[in-house]
Amino acid sequence: MPPDRVVLIGFMGAGKTTVGRIVAERLGLDFVDTDRLVEERASAPIAAIFADRGEKAFRDIEAEALAALGGRRRVVVATGGGAPAEPRNRSFFTSGAATFHLRVSLEAARQRSVANALRPLLAQDDAAVRRLYLSRQPIYEQLGMSVDTDGRDPAEVAEEIIGLLSNPRKNPAPGGSE
Ligand code: S3P
Repeated sequence: MPPDRVVLIGFMGAGKTTVGRIVAERLGLDFVDTDRLVEERASAPIAAIFADRGEKAFRDIEAEALAALGGRRRVVVATGGGAPAEPRNRSFFTSGAATFHLRVSLEAARQRSVANALRPLLAQDDAAVRRLYLSRQPIYEQLGMSVDTDGRDPAEVAEEIIGLLSNPRKNPAPGGSE
């Protein structure tokens, strides 16, 4: 039986929420977006959490939200782009979940994302965003089975994930992601 806990990771703009919703709908699973859980727990939008309490407070709330979701089955979880980079969150991605890395080039990520209330980290200068992107790629590649998203429709990406759930392949070697 294919895993009934599917977790999506990847950089901002990878399409985790859009693809996750499609996968959940097609498999008849619930869908959860951890950014929304964080906002509910904090009773504040993400930008306000960063601005008023700082990134560390955001990471603490995010870690609590992930821990609270730990035992949940029959669910697709789209996670914030920084969650896999926190060592305390690792077991969420490795225990009992089928974790997929939605691989996106920095260029495509920039085109798809805007520095909005959800993504205060994109409001940094280009070099800082690039450093963040590069620092996270090996973590994503290590924790998830990678699926390319550049130039692809979210429905096509979702279909690939659904196919991989019943017929997993070996994760390709890390690298070549930008
Ligand atoms: C973040 C990504 C955002 C959100 C927050 C921090 C990150 O989520 O959790 O702004 O550190 O990459 P998305 O990846 O869903 O945009």
